[in-house]
Amino acid sequence: MIDLRSDTVTQPTQQMREAMLVAPVGDDVYAEDPTVIELEQRVARLLGHEAGLFCVSGSMCNMLGVRLLVEPGQEVVCDVQAHIARAEMGGHAAAHGLTMRTFPSTRGKLDSAEVTKIISPSGGPYLVSTAAVAVENTHNFGGGTIQPFDELTAVAELCREHGIGFHLDGARLWSAHVATGVPFEVYGRLFDTISVCFSKGLGAPVGSVLVSTAENIARARVLRKRLGGGWRQAGVLAAACLYALDHHVQRLADDHAAARTFAEAVAGCVPAAVNPDTIETNVVVIDTGTTPAAPVAAAAAERGVRVSALGPFMIRAVTHLDVTADDCEWAGQLVGKLLAE
Ligand SMILES: Cc1ncc(COP(=O)(O)O)c(C=O)c1O
Repeated sequence: MIDLRSDTVTQPTQQMREAMLVAPVGDDVYAEDPTVIELEQRVARLLGHEAGLFCVSGSMCNMLGVRLLVEPGQEVVCDVQAHIARAEMGGHAAAHGLTMRTFPSTRGKLDSAEVTKIISPSGGPYLVSTAAVAVENTHNFGGGTIQPFDELTAVAELCREHGIGFHLDGARLWSAHVATGVPFEVYGRLFDTISVCFSKGLGAPVGSVLVSTAENIARARVLRKRLGGGWRQAGVLAAACLYALDHHVQRLADDHAAARTFAEAVAGCVPAAVNPDTIETNVVVIDTGTTPAAPVAAAAAERGVRVSALGPFMIRAVTHLDVTADDCEWAGQLVGKLLAE
């Protein structure tokens, strides 16, 4: 089975498991786990922030990061396809009492003009006040797209000008860095809070880190515990993340190339389904046209290729360290042929 449903389906490698086995650990609720502390400090430094907090998931880091910037009854603004809006089970509203407003985007790409149009920083007695903007880089449902750096800079300036926060859902920031060469710290200094994930593309079984100021992270520790996210000897998991940081970042370039190979194979059968030139990282979004996506995904699975039907006419395939370029070419041809039938 070639599983391209997501880059979260990877198995920890033997070396990663060995790193987990020998990790020194302690009780992280008492902030006494040396491996967790090492990971938090290292990620914070990498992104040019003061402190980090290791959490169970990207969703939790996003919920905490946004909550640090937005009070209950205020809003966070994001694009219409954002993971925080579509795929975090309404957690920001359900647990933290925030509202969300979305602006349109093409393939998830940030356009500062759209943000300027929608924000209401001081809502007064009539309008909900915008307390933060959130951006995703790379953009998952947009098809692994990389945010234009000048647009990120423009929105960061807009946020500062209006005294509102700027959050980055950087679940796959690793891919943006590898594809563009923009240093992590250069990305990092644009934002007030950043979430990065180790379980997507980097091959760790669990784990995300939120970074921000030391004061914010101290608050986030309390909020994390309130969500039931305080954990104990989490160093066994942090060790996998440290291993991933050392060994699995630069190899993402292979996943990006394999995604393009997959897209080319699909386009070879149905050119309108995907333009390989738009593939920037490890995610391929296929437009199935008038062919319903779910039966195509089901037929592919029967023949040994798993992809996700993420909308009535949308299929997503994501490459990762457990598939080869040859796997992806074969899988792309299969999906392309099914679409062409
Ligand atoms: C862009 C993005 N942000 C956040 C998340 C949430 O991560 P988790 O599944 O660890 O909660 C995901 C998950 O795939 C994602 O793609």
